[in-house]
Amino acid sequence: DIHPLLLCGGSGTRLWPLSRKSYPKQFTRLTGAESLFQTSARRLSGPGFAAPIVVTGADYRFVVTEQLAGVEIAAAATLIEPEARNTAPAILAATLQLHAHSPGALMLVAPSDHVIPDAAAFRAAVQAAIPAAQAGQLVTFGIRPDRPETGYGWLELTALPDTAFSPKPQPLRRFVEKPDLATAEAMLAGGLHLWNAGIFLFTTDIMLAAFEQHQTQLLGSVRSAFERAETDLNFLKLAPNPWAVCADISIDYAVMEKADNLAVVPYGGSWSDLGGWDAVWRESGPNDDGVVTFGPSTAIDCSDSLLRAEDGQQALVGIGLTDIIAVAMPDAVLVAHRDRAQDVKLAVEALRKQG
Ligand code: GDD
Ligand code: MG
Repeated sequence: DIHPLLLCGGSGTRLWPLSRKSYPKQFTRLTGAESLFQTSARRLSGPGFAAPIVVTGADYRFVVTEQLAGVEIAAAATLIEPEARNTAPAILAATLQLHAHSPGALMLVAPSDHVIPDAAAFRAAVQAAIPAAQAGQLVTFGIRPDRPETGYGWLELTALPDTAFSPKPQPLRRFVEKPDLATAEAMLAGGLHLWNAGIFLFTTDIMLAAFEQHQTQLLGSVRSAFERAETDLNFLKLAPNPWAVCADISIDYAVMEKADNLAVVPYGGSWSDLGGWDAVWRESGPNDDGVVTFGPSTAIDCSDSLLRAEDGQQALVGIGLTDIIAVAMPDAVLVAHRDRAQDVKLAVEALRKQG
């Protein structure tokens, strides 16, 4: 069986003011009746999948339990990070946990901020990746790029995938995390690159060996935080002291850019990371004018814009807008150009500094 690791400790600042540090985007109902976290958990349950391991922050532990119960899933373990240290320490802690119980087992890292409408096709791609993972590869999943996105990792192949984009494992020449625009444009034009879906399949021993080789110090700190973890209800609280000295680094920079045992399984189905308001706009099915409205909001003569107000709160009206994101919450309002949607995180940092 594959053991899913549900990563849900990110604070989702690019979706401010809907996503808050106290209640990040993965737990809110952004586009559907379930939260993204619930949909992600369900996508990786059923035949072929063991109960998931969850890694999250102390603030989110009860939301996690409640939302998993809401979709009738029980976690095998919930690891609590004393503070967010990005994905490398989180993935490593979960790998140590699984390795302690089932050495060499298959782990699938699953972010909780993705939209993957065809769950069955996605599960088939994951199953297709198993032989490569068991042969000692760190397996990534590759998405056909359609724009020079700088917010993703890019995967350099040795040969083009077949036209059907069948989910067959193939070797990966290089992993490039969050390139600058010129590099992304060149990779898009060259045609030998796919987007990294941020989903990884590997066996615990191979991931531990990768940390041993590329992040020896981080491995030491995370291991001691894990070995000194305390059990609290059903939660495993990683020890704050060694955790505090862990580098704040993502798995992409820490391991993937350095490793040479990488493989990729192309995934031809629809996939999106709801990483920012531009993605929410694109994934929400804009009307013929390119307009998306949520809640008590009205668009008059607008195009290519998103207007979002909260149910039961004040009305939001846009007139003659083009390429605008407007999000009204009871205590904060965002108005931004669609091209600048990724910069919302700058606003959050500025507000944080102001206190
Ligand atoms: N537990 C925990 N702790 N989870 C975290 C933390 C943390 O400190 N930081 C982030 N996460 C979770 C987020 O909630 C999300 O589900 C997932 O890990 C990925 O983190 P993001 O911060 O959303 O990463 P990204 O979108 O910038 O980049 C990654 O995903 C892209 C595709 O969506 C990279 O893997 C890119 O290469 C990739 O293209
Ligand atoms: Mg993301």
